[in-house]
Amino acid sequence: MLQRRAYPVLSTTSIGIGRVRPGRCGVDPATGDRRPAAGVFTATNALRLGMDAPAIRAVVHVVGTRAAVAGLCVGSRLLSSPPSSHGMSDNGRRGAPIANVYLKAGFYQKLVPPGVSSVFSVRDTDLHRRYRRLLSGGMSESSLKSMYPAIEANVNLAIQNMREEMEKRGAADVFKWWMFMATDIIGELTFGESFRMLEQKKKNQYSLDLENAPFIGALRATFPSFLYISKFLPLPVFKRAAAATMRHYRDAEESVARHRRLELADPTNVKATLFSKLYKAEDDEQLSLKETRDNALAYIVAGSDTTSNTLTYLVWAVCRHPHVKKALLNELASFLPSHGFGDQELKQLPYLNGVIDETLRIYGAAASALPRVVPPGGRLLLVAALAVTCIGVHLARMELRLAAAKFFRAFPEANISGLEGMSDEDMEPTMYFLLSPKGKRCLVQAY
Ligand code: HEM
Repeated sequence: MLQRRAYPVLSTTSIGIGRVRPGRCGVDPATGDRRPAAGVFTATNALRLGMDAPAIRAVVHVVGTRAAVAGLCVGSRLLSSPPSSHGMSDNGRRGAPIANVYLKAGFYQKLVPPGVSSVFSVRDTDLHRRYRRLLSGGMSESSLKSMYPAIEANVNLAIQNMREEMEKRGAADVFKWWMFMATDIIGELTFGESFRMLEQKKKNQYSLDLENAPFIGALRATFPSFLYISKFLPLPVFKRAAAATMRHYRDAEESVARHRRLELADPTNVKATLFSKLYKAEDDEQLSLKETRDNALAYIVAGSDTTSNTLTYLVWAVCRHPHVKKALLNELASFLPSHGFGDQELKQLPYLNGVIDETLRIYGAAASALPRVVPPGGRLLLVAALAVTCIGVHLARMELRLAAAKFFRAFPEANISGLEGMSDEDMEPTMYFLLSPKGKRCLVQAY
């Protein structure tokens, strides 16, 4: 039974207490967005203020909880099936879809490279709807069913690599392997061929750029003209970020070109991808190559470290709570066949799905800094007013279920390692738009 309680809507970036009234807020001269005069929290503010991880985490908990309640942000709510995808007005009547009422603030555009027009960054509702129409079919549960074997093959390879690393090094860095896995999955499903990170088995410029993408996004949002400034101001941080931005463009372009090459090589056997409709729209000249590239950029970033950071925190948190691990292992042993289970079976496991929900609640990978504009007059939301805006929700949940189940089946003795000085400090969350472990590693041993 849903509770009908009123919660204040987050203002564009506020965590201020109480109902947010635009009248009390300032107006961003650049974007026209209303913003609160005080109590502002964004990852970029954290960056400016040099907030330490516990302080950020404290704020993120507030933001994460309230944002999840408001249905605008992540946490178990965002990635769960919503009881309603409609906004509720003060008196509880159904209104327009929530995403159309609480429009994206200018911050979304500042996070991405200048001029990028993707489903993530656009603020124009018609254009956003157009992109969503082209993309949501590929992300539906029925369409993802056909992609399950590719997802499973990547999960299996990640676990095999972890096992090898444990044998050689004494521990496996699950942060690294989950990142490689999620990157390869989004590559294969979107462009027809994986980025082959799991085969290469080592970090390269591409994966390092992806790891740093949230920091660069936060930097860009703080200094929107850093690409320009970096030409004249030889500050290493700007130079590095500008170079990484150019590489991001190039990587997205190459990924789209790679798909085109695959199509040309065997036109009779073109695999369905998450972008099938988008590629078709480009062929029909309804979409430009630049728009395809921009959406590719969005998928590459949004579809990789969100999932891999969540999996890293899931493994870490479960290993640190033996009673949780025991209950999870019991469920996996009792209710899953030893071989040949699929997503349908995994969906039926309440404890596994509870562990995933709880990880998303506590370590929501994108639990802050995605501000929406409060309509004039302010709004009160009811708890029932939940919304799903993450287009990758079904894919993310499929990956999380499969990878978590296979990991704990493969390594029932998994424990956090103290090898090479690994400690809880490494797992302190840092938040530059996306939440990730401060040490950029999570060593786990299982023997
Ligand atoms: C655990 C994993 C994930 C988390 C926690 C997560 C979280 C989020 C959040 C908080 C938003 C912003 C919602 C908003 O402000 O409108 C979002 C949007 C988005 N996500 Fe995810 N996400 C995850 C996985 C994925 C995956 C696997 C993809 C695959 C491509 C993806 C693609 C996107 C895109 C394209 C958007 C923009 C959608 C729109 O505005 O219409 N996400 N996600």
